[in-house]
Amino acid sequence: ATRMQSSEWSASRSAKTDSSADALSQTIRTGLMASPKRLPAALLYDDVGSTLFEAITMLPEYGVTKADLRLIEAHASDVVRAMGEPIRGVELGPGNGAKAKMFLEAALDLQPELSFTAIDVSRSALESCRRTLEVLPDVDVELVRANYLEGLAQVPKEGGKRLILFLGSNLSNFERSESRAFLSSVRARLAPGEGILIATDLEKPKAKLLPAYDDAIGVTSAFNKNVLARLNREWGANFDLSAFSHEIRYLEAERRIEMHLRASRSMRVNVVALDVELALAEGETIWTESSHR
Ligand code: AVI
Repeated sequence: ATRMQSSEWSASRSAKTDSSADALSQTIRTGLMASPKRLPAALLYDDVGSTLFEAITMLPEYGVTKADLRLIEAHASDVVRAMGEPIRGVELGPGNGAKAKMFLEAALDLQPELSFTAIDVSRSALESCRRTLEVLPDVDVELVRANYLEGLAQVPKEGGKRLILFLGSNLSNFERSESRAFLSSVRARLAPGEGILIATDLEKPKAKLLPAYDDAIGVTSAFNKNVLARLNREWGANFDLSAFSHEIRYLEAERRIEMHLRASRSMRVNVVALDVELALAEGETIWTESSHR
């Protein structure tokens, strides 16, 4: 059984009227007017971006997802057993649901049925998660289209001890101070005996990290540029994508990979829905994502 709730970021532009969507628009506006210019990483995940991200997870250069899958395969049963049944599964940013499926199968060895809530801003990720979990009739799947904390607030406290999965280095995309605050908020929502399982990538040599974010066939470049395409599609902007290149920086002291988009010429850009006109200088960059180790 699957249910879908949507609390924000509806796909159609006319529906972008609730407060979360307004907050996103406001974040975009502030970021584009800041110096250096930046955009929220959540913008990467519309249907096109989520599909490109799924392709990234299959690239030989990108090891994070494959490492997660290996670890879960080896340890899902131990994690579930350590919780003590019955559990209720929750995943923040489930991607295609492959990892959740492994945990849910391990839980079904110990309890006859369970509930699982997938929380993501991306409609297509939720849809792909639903399809993956369809083969488990004893799992009651709920899809919540919301940001993590809003989604978490909607998960019932009944129906088992909540095991929150926060995998795939999703935590790495928060700024360090934000990640501390976020984890405190999650903790405040959990009861004794409930838990969160966090998987994040460890530090790697720069020579290994850079290709993971700048792959040979250009999937990550397309994933990055899609944020401008999305601003054109959904916010009525007129970015000329051919005038931007994908740029990766690794700041060793901060253990942070950054994705940027660099303008190859000076230009003016209108963003109709935000009532903004921007000037970009030749060589100016827009910072689109941080990924911490
Ligand atoms: C989802 N997140 C953990 C990915 C990461 O590695 O930071 C997103 C990503 N960005 C570029 N490639 C993958």
